[in-house]
Amino acid sequence: MRFGVLGTGMVGRTIAGKLAELGHEVKMGSRSAGNEKAVEWAAGAGESASEGSFADAAKFGEVVVNATAGTASLEALETAGAENLAGKVLIEIANPLDFSQGMPPSLSVCNTDSLGEQIQRAFPEARVVKALNTVNAAVMVAPDSLTESGNVFVCGNDDEAKARVSELLETFGWLAGDVVDLGDIAAARGTEMYLPLWLRMMGALDTPQFNIRIVRAD
Ligand SMILES: NC(=O)c1ccc[n+]([C@@H]2O[C@H](COP(=O)([O-])OP(=O)(O)OC[C@H]3O[C@@H](n4cnc5c(N)ncnc54)[C@H](OP(=O)(O)O)[C@@H]3O)[C@@H](O)[C@H]2O)c1
Repeated sequence: MRFGVLGTGMVGRTIAGKLAELGHEVKMGSRSAGNEKAVEWAAGAGESASEGSFADAAKFGEVVVNATAGTASLEALETAGAENLAGKVLIEIANPLDFSQGMPPSLSVCNTDSLGEQIQRAFPEARVVKALNTVNAAVMVAPDSLTESGNVFVCGNDDEAKARVSELLETFGWLAGDVVDLGDIAAARGTEMYLPLWLRMMGALDTPQFNIRIVRAD
């Protein structure tokens, strides 16, 4: 399958690398074609890997991944082009973290709205599925690197799109029973507002390589 991965940061490179390793064709996108990190990634990721602008990557992908800085995601997706996202599954990994006042970051949108919803509203023809934003990049593609299995969440308005993303997550190593469908895209409020707790846990545990597990009565 062809994937367009928007983002040259840790998440973009990690997801793009895993997709290429799984045999998919991947084009990494950034604000301008020829981005140093994207060129370096493409050079080391095999023949099915390439890079270009956000628009090039979005056009290329049958499925598009948003791995851009959350406060810039709407702008990045605008540059990618609504026409290049229409009808496609858009895997939305970004967190709306605002670092402008220093650490810890605050959320630029929360409580009664979310970045996932803003993106779905701005690109109504894209099939937005919020996923993977609750774990560190390394854990996203290697959940089995942790000592026990944990949960990952998907939400979005399109059931078929969520089913496709859940299948993709299984190819990353997530166990089918551990992928929790939280419902429509408004559930992104919860997975994004988890970030302040995630950041505190990272500090308390002194590592970003962890996850949480839901435990319930039979
Ligand atoms: N790091 C993690 O482990 C982790 C885990 C869960 C979720 N997330 C979320 O995943 C997303 C990516 O995180 P990251 O750490 O890989 O990278 P990042 O530094 O948050 O984002 C890098 C990407 O954002 C783009 N970008 C930055 N400012 C922009 C602007 N003004 N306009 C358009 N694009 C802009 C960059 O474009 P260029 O390529 O042109 O520089 C680059 O592709 C973030 O939303 C983050 O919150 C991260």
